[in-house]
Amino acid sequence: MNTINFILNGVPTSASNLDSTKTLLTWLRSNQRVGTKEGCAEGDCGACTVLLAELDATQDLTIKTVNACIRFIHTLHGKAVFTIEYLRQNNIEGSSESASSKNTLHPVQQAMVDCHGSQCGFCTPGIVMSLWGVYLENEQAVQPNRIADALSGNLCRCTGYKPILDAGQKMYVYPRVKFDKQYFVDQLKSLHLSADLNHRPLEYLSVETETGRFDTPKNVDALLRLKAAYPEATILAGATDVGLWSNKSLLELPHLIYLGDMPELKRISQDRQTLTIGAAASLNEAYGAICKHYPTLYEIFKRFASTPVRNSGTLGGNVANGSPIGDSMPALIALGATITLASHRDQTRHDRVIALEDFYLGYQHKAWEPNEVLICVHVPLPQNDIAFRSYKVSKRFDSDISAVCGAYALTLESGVVKNIKIAYGGMAGTPKRATMVESLLRGATWNAPTVKAAMSTMNQDYQPLTDMRATANYRLTVAKNLLWRFYLETQPDQALPPEKLSVFAHSF
Ligand SMILES: Cc1cc2nc3c(=O)[nH]c(=O)nc-3n(C[C@H](O)[C@H](O)[C@H](O)COP(=O)(O)OP(=O)(O)OC[C@H]3O[C@@H](n4cnc5c(N)ncnc54)[C@H](O)[C@@H]3O)c2cc1C
Ligand code: FES
Ligand code: FES
Repeated sequence: MNTINFILNGVPTSASNLDSTKTLLTWLRSNQRVGTKEGCAEGDCGACTVLLAELDATQDLTIKTVNACIRFIHTLHGKAVFTIEYLRQNNIEGSSESASSKNTLHPVQQAMVDCHGSQCGFCTPGIVMSLWGVYLENEQAVQPNRIADALSGNLCRCTGYKPILDAGQKMYVYPRVKFDKQYFVDQLKSLHLSADLNHRPLEYLSVETETGRFDTPKNVDALLRLKAAYPEATILAGATDVGLWSNKSLLELPHLIYLGDMPELKRISQDRQTLTIGAAASLNEAYGAICKHYPTLYEIFKRFASTPVRNSGTLGGNVANGSPIGDSMPALIALGATITLASHRDQTRHDRVIALEDFYLGYQHKAWEPNEVLICVHVPLPQNDIAFRSYKVSKRFDSDISAVCGAYALTLESGVVKNIKIAYGGMAGTPKRATMVESLLRGATWNAPTVKAAMSTMNQDYQPLTDMRATANYRLTVAKNLLWRFYLETQPDQALPPEKLSVFAHSF
């Protein structure tokens, strides 16, 4: 089998004999869908934004923006994709948003014209797709910050964002164009029932071509067996890291095992003490769930990459990749998160749970046992009066990698530090706790002199590197100052209110 089946702009489509790392963008552009542009080919500029629709566990349709440039085409099997051409065509029989709107501009496009939201136009298809994502999700105009969030992954070099943000409001002024969701639910269901899909082995889809192999297991048991049988295969989740290895580092990835079609790995559940996030849950879903319990993480959530990257990327991928500058690990470590790792050996599934901080042994060196896969992340729910913050310092507000990211979880008892966990990214070869600083603070009064003294020991915990993002000295200074900020926000008598400190305070 080397064919995949998906719906393209409402039309059932097959593609065969494709490289296992062929991206949706290159496929589109070599198949006469050139409205979708290539800018950076690394998820940064949004010129390639398309909408991806799939059936969720309840057979409902989820539609979200993704970057076609880092989306491997084989992940589309059984799903639907909409490109900018769909808005122009708008004439798929039976599914038409409005027959009368055939070949007229969609309200999103009309708003961009009327607000002068485009100059050179290179970014425009991607921007229109991001705005269409908002339009589909909301029947009425939304707050400007919601539009800005949707556009956080769209770079425009000429127009400036004001007219584009205005278009995001104005698109609701025109007569609404309906989207027949049920039509696409039925279309996807019939695609799933079609002979072509049914002939696949039930446990996993396997596409083999001359250049590589792409497996899509349908359950965790099949995943673990595949990983045991092919230890060298690369696990693929949202491809927001792996896509760049292929596009930018030109790494050959001859065998990929894709996690995106396993409902059990996307599940997010909760008991009285713990929130459990499946490794393939998207960053948007995972952070959405964590922020319900830790609202002060909201700024990290919204500043983590961009909406389309968070729609594709997973929390599991962030943790498994374990970059020293990844944004989730400091918060998760400070909160005492654990992870479940599983493998298949001796005909049996083996699971183990370890503390996340014990997973990172050294730069890109993790505590994997042979053939293990990350199954889920367990986040303890706030049990006591815990004060928690995480701060990200980067050159750009949206869609940028941290120079330093710090996280702090503090429990006070009568003004004395009962417990504190501090972790930083960007300060060492791994995400790492500030154990020296913590030990100085534990049992001490939470006041300015104690915190200042603790700040001065930061260089015993960390000897950061100088690189293109920041110098060692800058990183150390920032890490100390972020601890000071945490103190200012949590000092018992005159804590600074969030609205003085965070543009997202209204969301807490
Ligand atoms: C434009 C852009 C902006 C970004 N901004 C940020 C940012 O602000 N902060 C940040 O932290 N990161 C950022 N990233 C990096 C990336 O988005 C995250 O690391 C993301 O969480 C990776 O998840 P993924 O599902 O895409 O992983 P993938 O790319 O699919 O995989 C990443 C790695 O994890 C492994 N892996 C994935 N899942 C598992 C599993 N369940 N078990 C075992 N191994 C697994 C893969 O084999 C691979 O080694 C950005 C990336 C891009 C392209
Ligand atoms: S081409 Fe820049 S995000 Fe895809
Ligand atoms: S209009 Fe030129 S990049 Fe946006």
